[in-house]
Amino acid sequence: MNLKETVKQKYGEAALRVFEGGGGCCCGPKLPTGLAQTARMSHEIYTDSDTVGIPAAAITASLGCGNPTALAQLKPGETVLDLGSGGGIDVFLSAQRVGPTGKVYGLDMTDEMLALARQNQTKAGVENVEFLKGEIENIPLPDGLADVVISNCVINLSVDKSRVLREAFRVLKRGGRFAVSDVVLCGEIPATLRNNPELWAGCVAGAMLESKYKSELAAAGFVDIDIEPTRVFRAADVREFLSAAGAEAVSVADQADGKIMSAFVRATKPATGGEDLSKAKTVSKIQILGTGCSRCRDLTANAQKAVQELGIETEIEKVTEIEDIIKFHIFMTPGLVIDGQLKAAGRVPSVEEIKQLLVAAGGN
Ligand SMILES: C[S@@+](CC[C@H](N)C(=O)[O-])C[C@H]1O[C@@H](n2cnc3c(N)ncnc32)[C@H](O)[C@@H]1O
Repeated sequence: MNLKETVKQKYGEAALRVFEGGGGCCCGPKLPTGLAQTARMSHEIYTDSDTVGIPAAAITASLGCGNPTALAQLKPGETVLDLGSGGGIDVFLSAQRVGPTGKVYGLDMTDEMLALARQNQTKAGVENVEFLKGEIENIPLPDGLADVVISNCVINLSVDKSRVLREAFRVLKRGGRFAVSDVVLCGEIPATLRNNPELWAGCVAGAMLESKYKSELAAAGFVDIDIEPTRVFRAADVREFLSAAGAEAVSVADQADGKIMSAFVRATKPATGGEDLSKAKTVSKIQILGTGCSRCRDLTANAQKAVQELGIETEIEKVTEIEDIIKFHIFMTPGLVIDGQLKAAGRVPSVEEIKQLLVAAGGN
């Protein structure tokens, strides 16, 4: 059986176990061996407040390694695509955030997972969602449809990751966001693990090195690429998720110590390739929220450079008084506000990203 068929079979079985478990069962399904299971059981991914109103079976079937919807900063009216949507948890979470004027597509190749996701949708009566059958290497949607592509612990499972990233780029609008949770390697793992099909289906063997992930995203055309570790797995964790993959795998667990991580992967499709940059001219004011920290200075410098590169005359104001900053409801500075709208908080967007934000804000 090839790797794709192995993955399909494993996740088909996982979906059937959720069906068999029924809605009221206190036991979770027996999941495919691997990181997804360990990550989920030992590291709470979704808080109770995240999952209010989400179908119970979608929560039970959750096999992710992070919460991409927390990363994506979804807004009402946006169109979202979830690559490898499984039982649908991130689709339903996204649907709540984009609201009735938005739309969320879940794409999965496994019939049993699609049946489970569609059953969850019917039970919950969610209307702004559509589950599609297909492969993430060949997305059955038109160019430029999505504001955001999310995915949770799936891209590592693909046998053609560069194609997946090119497809994600294709279906995104200009300025669209790629906001993914995935398993990423921060060092080479032993060949015994790399070549184990069980561990491929368990989200370990197919994971890309961080440097490779970044270069593949750049090759697909993405900018503002960032990989943020959310959990680095130590030898003891590795031993736990290797236990069902055989003694040979367990024997090399120490060699994988600290080399496997769950991470948030962020990137943006440039807004400005062929876009009408003059739209940014209509933006009248940029505000930098912060009390004078070095990151606030970096953000100010990036904003000045973005304005300069776009050739516009937008005012840049520094907002330094706490009582003025908290009006924007941010928990962490620096913050970036464009014409009164908060665009980023707790981080320093790059010059390129600020340019995209200015063009997008000016186009509204
Ligand atoms: C680890 S589970 C994650 C499911 C879901 N994202 C979650 O967080 O619960 C992987 C899912 O991706 C799907 N999948 C794996 N490879 C795929 C591919 N090449 N094309 C489409 N779906 C795929 C599987 O069928 C399965 O539902």
